Amino acid sequence: MSEENFSVRPATEDDLAAILDIERRCYPAPCVPWTADAFRGEIQKQFSHFLVLTDDETDSVIAGYIVYWLLFDECHILNVAIHPDWRGQAFGTRLIRNAINDAVKKEVKRVFLEVRKSNAGAVALYQKLGFFVDHIKSAFYENGEDCYFMILYLDQPNKF
Ligand SMILES: CC(C)(COP(=O)(O)OP(=O)(O)OC[C@H]1O[C@@H](n2cnc3c(N)ncnc32)[C@H](O)[C@@H]1OP(=O)(O)O)[C@@H](O)C(=O)NCCC(=O)NCCS
Repeated sequence: MSEENFSVRPATEDDLAAILDIERRCYPAPCVPWTADAFRGEIQKQFSHFLVLTDDETDSVIAGYIVYWLLFDECHILNVAIHPDWRGQAFGTRLIRNAINDAVKKEVKRVFLEVRKSNAGAVALYQKLGFFVDHIKSAFYENGEDCYFMILYLDQPNKF
């Protein structure tokens, strides 16, 4: 299966077991993985967009997922994760672009997210898409780690 054989669709309750498996693999300690209830809550919120990338053939292989909120003139990306077996194939890029494109359609002014300072891979991905570090939240995470608050302005020229 290649990258082209995967499509984005809204997550359902039936996807939760696979999503929780990916979540635990992607966020080992000191990270705190989301719970089933946290994901379930996102399926129900009207302003939340909870999407999965699945294979076109069976629609059952979940390569990754994203959760973002479109609220007023902002888009907040809360979670994005790609199964370790499917990394490095631009799936993460595709999910973030999906959020950005949705935000553009809704005439949202900025997309923002929070990321651990040590998460070099994710930071590089966001920077590639035009996000920049707006400020640092000191000792934001449970283990005392700092957080980068990153923003992509959609009402200014940028790379995406
Ligand atoms: C971060 C994550 C979503 C990236 O997913 P991915 O599908 O592998 O990313 P992509 O293939 O789209 O990568 C795009 C670019 O991001 C950067 N990047 C991604 N992973 C990287 C890594 N481990 N190290 C360095 N750069 C990385 C590279 O610039 C890459 O471009 P390149 O392939 O041309 O070098 C994935 O590693 C993941 O799920 N990590 C665990 C969960 C997580 O940290 N989520 C983000 C929380 S804020």
